[in-house]
Amino acid sequence: KSGPVVAIDGPSGAGKSTVAKTLATAIDAAYLDTGAMYRAATLAVLNAGVDPSQTAQVTKAVKNAKLEFGTTPEDPFTRVDGEDADLAIRGDDVTKAVSAVAGNKSVRKFLIDEQRRIIADAKAGIVVEGRDIVSVVAPDADVKVYLTADPVERAKRRAAENGADANATAKDIERRDTADSKTTKPLEAPEGAVVIDSTTLPIVEVVAKILALLSNRE
Ligand code: C5P
Repeated sequence: KSGPVVAIDGPSGAGKSTVAKTLATAIDAAYLDTGAMYRAATLAVLNAGVDPSQTAQVTKAVKNAKLEFGTTPEDPFTRVDGEDADLAIRGDDVTKAVSAVAGNKSVRKFLIDEQRRIIADAKAGIVVEGRDIVSVVAPDADVKVYLTADPVERAKRRAAENGADANATAKDIERRDTADSKTTKPLEAPEGAVVIDSTTLPIVEVVAKILALLSNRE
């Protein structure tokens, strides 16, 4: 039997990446950041000089690009057309354009198929983070979590991560949550998910809760 699939959804700044990577390392499983996949697709679109709102051209640019994703939690690299993209996918240009690209139906179908392939190939199990993992990508996951936190706390964390101003970051997160709400529902707990609020809970305790869910299953 293959290892467990753990799905973690939640809005920006809730702590998904840190929790998912720590958990994957702890259980010797693979790790997949689906947000990085939408970001990589967006970088490919910008590199091709395509306007993110041009549906057909966006789809073509994404399908023509070579997107590669590392799934070890210690080195979850992203490459676009053979080039290391870890820094570029976190930049402002990509962050501003990603909601539009992620709203493209063909792009979503293309990336969701890829996500399902990666999950099926992960024989030792996998921790997958995103916005629609529980509801769409892997509704049969062994453990399903919705990780959330107070908006002020989320903005503070993102600002600290990026060395940015907390107020500007709060506005950016709000803008992205609103734009993303047309496509996924980042601010709503998906059906069947265990809700964990990380506002005052340290990362290690969030991870411990998910480990407990894993050992209590069935
Ligand atoms: O998680 P992160 O903030 O890196 O995600 C970047 C963007 O990718 C989100 O704002 C959203 O537009 C998109 N996304 C998505 N579905 C996912 C993960 C991310 O639409 N499962």
